[in-house]
This record gives sequence, structure tokens and C-alpha cells, in this order.
Amino acid sequence: MDSILVTGNGPLNGQIPIAGAKNACLTLMPATLLSEEPLTLTNAPRLSDIKTMTLLLQSLGAEVSSLQDGQVLAMSSHDLTSHTADYDIVRKMRASNLVLGPMLARLGQAVVSLPGGCAIGARPMDLHIEALEALGAQIELKDGYLHAKAPGGLKGAVHEMRFASVGATENIVMAATLAKGTTVLKNAAREPEIVDLVECLRKMGAQIAGEGTSTIEIQGVDRLHGATHQVVTDRIELGTYMLAPAICGGEVELLGGRLDLVGAFVEKLDAAAIDVTETDKGLKVRRRNGRVSAVNVTTEPFPGFPTDLQAQMMALLCTAEGISVLEEKIFENRFMHAPELTRMGAQIDVHGGTATVTGVQRLKGAPVMATDLRASVSLILAGLAAEGETVVNRVYHLDRGYEHVVRKLEGVGARIERIKE
Ligand code: EPZ
Repeated sequence: MDSILVTGNGPLNGQIPIAGAKNACLTLMPATLLSEEPLTLTNAPRLSDIKTMTLLLQSLGAEVSSLQDGQVLAMSSHDLTSHTADYDIVRKMRASNLVLGPMLARLGQAVVSLPGGCAIGARPMDLHIEALEALGAQIELKDGYLHAKAPGGLKGAVHEMRFASVGATENIVMAATLAKGTTVLKNAAREPEIVDLVECLRKMGAQIAGEGTSTIEIQGVDRLHGATHQVVTDRIELGTYMLAPAICGGEVELLGGRLDLVGAFVEKLDAAAIDVTETDKGLKVRRRNGRVSAVNVTTEPFPGFPTDLQAQMMALLCTAEGISVLEEKIFENRFMHAPELTRMGAQIDVHGGTATVTGVQRLKGAPVMATDLRASVSLILAGLAAEGETVVNRVYHLDRGYEHVVRKLEGVGARIERIKE
């Protein structure tokens, strides 16, 4: 398993290009199942999760071609040959469950393995099941697989979700595009990736309104046609790299960065004495003065502070002046980066879903273990500013969500290299 060697090397300066959003692409790709006509995505990120979704769609009979070094995905689901998403693919990537809604809508049936838990939590699918049953699906769990049927097709309904689940919102919106009648989804998630999905579905002929708010209304249509869609900028990669100059000093411009995608995050950076300015190419980030100030953070569904930036923010706060309290409200076990940061000299006290971070002057490099995607990149951020060498092991986690991380950070002056095992 490869590892990454990072050596603290002072301030970072220059530009980092931000890729298309992993979490948008992972819901846009299954949308191809809704139509017999081709769907082409541009600005796609080059990530292992995208390869996993490609394999899954191909296992269902879809054609998926990766063009222009992976930045264009040309897909066609004219002839689907299977409606089963196998455990060996789904267990590797929970987002595989996003084929459930489209398959049900297009084929009237779907067999999808339950993803099982992952490092950050149990990650059940009860909200997906309840919402699809509201549209008339019959779903039963057998041998670890969800067996879903909608023999007479799905029917529009009014449904309020108990929690604003991102994936459940995406599954329902996609399924409802081909349902008979109108669907009103209440307490829907508001993430930008859902807005991006709806913009793509609308290009395919879907009748949808309210995306980005808590109530989304979908008028079912008989069929959807093909389209070409550009994947929205990745707000989590953006936020991650905004923290590089915040932690190390210097000034970095994030190309393609958009303030509307990271509102709550930028508010917290401002409170931590980090300045973010819009430029004609994106967002420029630098420290306001010598030291970062402690801030309290609570993760919430969009537009609140994103859970996917909690680990990276903790890395910043390890060397902030004062005491910061981080509350993780979305997942039940998302502080696994804390003991690794502690190995680097951080002072972090974790109780349940709350982590209290007492800032220290500087972290010290150490060998550390990546446990999940966002934890792995928070360790790299910490290593960039630490004294000496940090070796981050198990970086396959990183490849799931960050393309060319070594090249992008080297480009702004970081001392970082990948060690092939
Ligand atoms: C999406 O996961 C993202 N993944 C996650 O990003 C992100 O952390 C999460 O949304 C929250 O923003 C993709 O978009 C591919 P949820 P998702 O359904 O859809 C519970 C990353 O690092 N829940 O909003 O699975 C669930 O257990 C990944 O890129 C139920 O209880 O998130 C969790 O505690 C990690 N029952 C909470 O809701 C359900 O049926 C949020 O889950 C569904 C979810």
C-alpha cells in the first residue's frame, strides 16, 4: 500500500486548480440509467470512486467510455442487461446505492446490496427505503440485498424525510422523474451536488422545481432524452486546499473556486482570521496576521458547515491560538483522525460527538494512518505545517476523492512525495 511523505516546508504560494465534484459525479453517472439516449459528463474528476461507479454501471449493461484523460464520461444505457448491484462493488463504495432509484424507475425492479457500514458510521438505508416505498415501490431485505419492485411503475406522492439525507434525496429525485404524477419531497437535502443533479435531469427533459430548498417538486414524464452536462466544482476539494495556506502561511489561489459553494466554511475561516477574496479566476486565501484564532464548529446539512470538511478544519485548529470545540452531528464516528493528529503532538479531547482542541505552537511530523477519505487529507494538511517528516500510510483512501494531490501541492511549494510500496 502506497504512502505519502510530507515535510514541513514553510509558506505555500501559487495556484491550485479545483476539479469537478466527486459527490456530484457519483449521482450524475447513475442518471444515465434513466434514459436510452447517451448522457455525457464533462469536467469529471479522475478518481478511483469514479472508476468504481464505471464498473458498476458496466455490470448493469451500460456503456461508459472515459475520454480526454478521464475528464469526459460518455455513457449510454440503451440496453441494460442486469438489474443487480453486487455486494463486491457496493461494499467498496456506498454511493453505489444511487443506482437503486434510477433502476426502479427505468426497469421496475432493482436488486442492490446493502453497503454495510464503513469507517465513519453504520450508514443505513432506511430513509431511501421509506421514500421509495412512498412512491409505490415494494422493497424487502433478503441475504443482505434490497429487492425492490415497482411492477406497475412508480407513482408520484408527497413524502417528508425524517432527515435531510443527501443520497436518499438523490435516489428519490431520480426515481420520481419517471413516476406517474407529481412527487413533492419535503425536508430534502439542499447540497450543491443535488442542484447539479437537477440541472442535468432538466437538460434530459425532467420537470423539477425547488432544488436547493427543502421542498423539491417533480412532475413525472414518460421518458428522458440524452444530454451533455458539466460537473460542478468540488466544494470539498476546494475547502480542503483553502486550508493549505491557512495552515502553512503564504497565499494560494484556488482556480475555479466559488464562494457560494463554501459559505458556512468561509464564515468559520473568517472567524479564525483567515482572509478569503474572490478573484476573476477563483478564490485567494491567506492568513490575516501571524496566527490562526480558535473557533467552534458544528457540522450540519448544507448550507451549514460540511461534515466532509470537519477533519481538515480540525487539522487547522490544532495550531490555532486558544481552545476550539468541534461537534460532529452528521456521522456517529468521524473523529478517527484525532488520535493520529495526537501522535503529531496535537491536544485533542474526544467525548462522543464532541472534540475539544487546545491549540499548540507547532505539530511534529510522525508516521500516521489514514482511516477514511477526509481523515487522510487532514493528516497531509497537518504534515505540511509540522516540523520534520510525516508519513501518511494507506493513501488508497486519498485516491478515492483527491486527484493528483501530490502534484497540486508540489505546485504551491510543498515538499511532498508518494512512496510506492
Ligand atoms: C453523502 O453521503 C456524501 N457522499 C458524503 O460524503 C457526505 O459526508 C454525506 O452525504 C453528508 O453530507 C456522496 O455524496 C457520495 P446522508 P450520504 O445520506 O448520502 C444517515 C465523502 O467524504 N442516514 O446525507 O450517504 C447516515 O448514516 C462522503 O465524500 C440514515 O440514517 O449521506 C448519516 O449519519 C462521506 N439513513 C447521515 O444520515 C439513511 O437511509 C447523513 O447521511 C441514509 C442516511
